[in-house]
Amino acid sequence: MEQRSQWGSRIGFLLAAIGSAVGLGNIWRFPATAFDNGGGAFFVPYLFALLTAGIPLLIMEYTIGHKYRSSSPRSFSKINKKMEWVGWWQVLISFVISTYYPIIIAWSIMYAYFSIGTKWGDDPTNFFVADFLEVADAGVFGSIVPSVLFPVILVWIFVFFFLGRGVKKGIEFANRIFIPALLVVFIIIVVRALTLPGAIDGLDAFFKPDWSRIADGSVWIAAYGQIFFSLSIAFAIMITYSSYLPKKSDITNNAFITGFANSSFELLAGIGVFAVLGFMAYQTSQPVSEVVADGVGLAFMVFPEIISQMPASSFFGFLFFGSLVLAGLSSMISISETYIAAVQEKFSVSRGKALMLGGGLAALVSLLYATQGGLNLLDTVDYFINNYGVALAGLVEVVAIAWFARALKDLQHHADSISDIKLGVWWRFCLGFLTPIVLGYMMVKNFLNDIN
Ligand code: PFF
Ligand code: NA
Repeated sequence: MEQRSQWGSRIGFLLAAIGSAVGLGNIWRFPATAFDNGGGAFFVPYLFALLTAGIPLLIMEYTIGHKYRSSSPRSFSKINKKMEWVGWWQVLISFVISTYYPIIIAWSIMYAYFSIGTKWGDDPTNFFVADFLEVADAGVFGSIVPSVLFPVILVWIFVFFFLGRGVKKGIEFANRIFIPALLVVFIIIVVRALTLPGAIDGLDAFFKPDWSRIADGSVWIAAYGQIFFSLSIAFAIMITYSSYLPKKSDITNNAFITGFANSSFELLAGIGVFAVLGFMAYQTSQPVSEVVADGVGLAFMVFPEIISQMPASSFFGFLFFGSLVLAGLSSMISISETYIAAVQEKFSVSRGKALMLGGGLAALVSLLYATQGGLNLLDTVDYFINNYGVALAGLVEVVAIAWFARALKDLQHHADSISDIKLGVWWRFCLGFLTPIVLGYMMVKNFLNDIN
């Protein structure tokens, strides 16, 4: 049997885990989610979800990967034969995400290029939809859009290259470059943003707490959803990555570092984005709440408009879209690794074959989004993943491990035997009781609200 691949060092693993965690979720999901769900008051449910669910689940996934040294499906089946499907379900979600993530990275590559000389002109929204994506009434898909197709192919070449070189020489190597670079770019962006006129009004809007929202169940679900998505929990990623850890690894400590690093990037992005939105509000004499946006709209419609009005616009635009590319690629590598590892084990094939099969299929499917109807499709799929997939996947995972397999004690024992920080009953209390009850209750209540 081939020896299982391993990270070259502790920092290599940490950078890869942080690289997976820090992505578009930090840059364009967190700021508006916090704003829409109580602003400064959102930090209460957010921190609660981080400390009682996010980091405890991260510790659990690291422990599972480290203990069973397998991909997610095989790890779950080693805990209990009946649970292999939980792993495959996670892998499937990752697979679906990995078909549209490269599209967004491809757009960002093009927009880094468009930034130079602000090629999107006076009407960036129209430029994005009509000129760049060629969205038109052309049936469901319409024809392939070359200006999207080519950068998508470039992204896949990148992904195949790094994943083909394996865990240490590929994944670890890429993250060793991307993550420090991303941090530097982030800091430049935030400092620049904070020195723009109106920046303070943006921050004011972002941090102003609306305490009346705190009793709202949907705000709590938003907090759990943000934490799970942002930490790449229940996507099979962290189990796969920790299965490459050496025997001697302090996994509990690693989980805390990953969790706090991700939240720091999130806070930094929130500050940067709202400082820029404050500038936009100032320029157009509108309240900040009028210019808030998230996701695709924020990055490809609102931001280009603002960037055009900034001094040294080309430079700022290039850095902003460059940061999306770096953050996106490191997350993309991690999502694709889940199915490569799973296929490799399930069918006893080489890494290369699994990559050709899994990556090849994902690359083919991704071409559907490089069509005139791609934006629409992307919106729909992303909506379902975010609103029905993320929090549910976390709940299913914790119920399977804690209630169905009753494996928490066993996992705690394993984690404690190799970690400096000992877990104690609080960890089992959070995962075995608090998280499933709170999350389950909120989801049912929200669902009932929705159908009424
Ligand atoms: N955690 C990443 C982010 O916050 O952007 C996003 C992500 C990556 C989610 C990979 C899911 C995933 F499988
Ligand atoms: Na994140």
